[in-house]
Amino acid sequence: MEVHVDGGTGILGSPSGRSLPPLSAHVKVFEHDIEQVLLSSEAIQRKIAETGERLTEDYAGKDPILVGVLKGAFVFMADLSRHIDLPLEFDFMAVSSYGAATQTSGVVRILKDLDHEIIGRHVLLVEDIVDSGLTLSYLLKNLRTRKPASLEVCALMQKTGVQRVPLDIKYKLFEIPSVFVVGYGLDFAERFRNVPYVGTLRPEVYRDAVS
Ligand code: IMP
Repeated sequence: MEVHVDGGTGILGSPSGRSLPPLSAHVKVFEHDIEQVLLSSEAIQRKIAETGERLTEDYAGKDPILVGVLKGAFVFMADLSRHIDLPLEFDFMAVSSYGAATQTSGVVRILKDLDHEIIGRHVLLVEDIVDSGLTLSYLLKNLRTRKPASLEVCALMQKTGVQRVPLDIKYKLFEIPSVFVVGYGLDFAERFRNVPYVGTLRPEVYRDAVS
């Protein structure tokens, strides 16, 4: 797999070199499963700080509610929220994800709904990654019926060229190639969420998971 390297995107290259940033002790166990780092921890934090500033300006004078899509968005949402200089509220939805597979089924199921009413509120939906876009499209339709004052999306990543529905993502931090990624909240079979960067897995990891 080749990944295009561009200084502005924060995507790191070197698929063959396998020189990875060292992981601290708690995630060291995952180090040999990672094939390549796509988004370094530093690049993620830089973009989050910029986005937080933009959100602080865009929502000035308002008290927005951040709606995180569990579980993948929890790390991103926690870091992002600490760069938004406004009185925020938080809520979460959980939807069915890939489970132990790496391809979307296209079927979205709500596992946990919001705890709060959002009628008349400024809602910012916080997503980890947009792949086919089916999850986000479903969530937006669902949330719109609850009559928020505004509804926008902040997504850490969007995979390019794979959207099956048109989507308007106002705050998008990174575009990445259409590969399965883990880390920074994203999992494969519930593992790797606490890896501090976003990376791809070595093929053996998938093979071992199905065998
Ligand atoms: P979509 O409905 O195809 O856009 O998929 C969105 C959801 O699938 C995300 O919120 C993630 O939970 C999960 N997902 C999509 N791509 C990946 C990936 O590369 N790694 C881990 N989870 C992913």
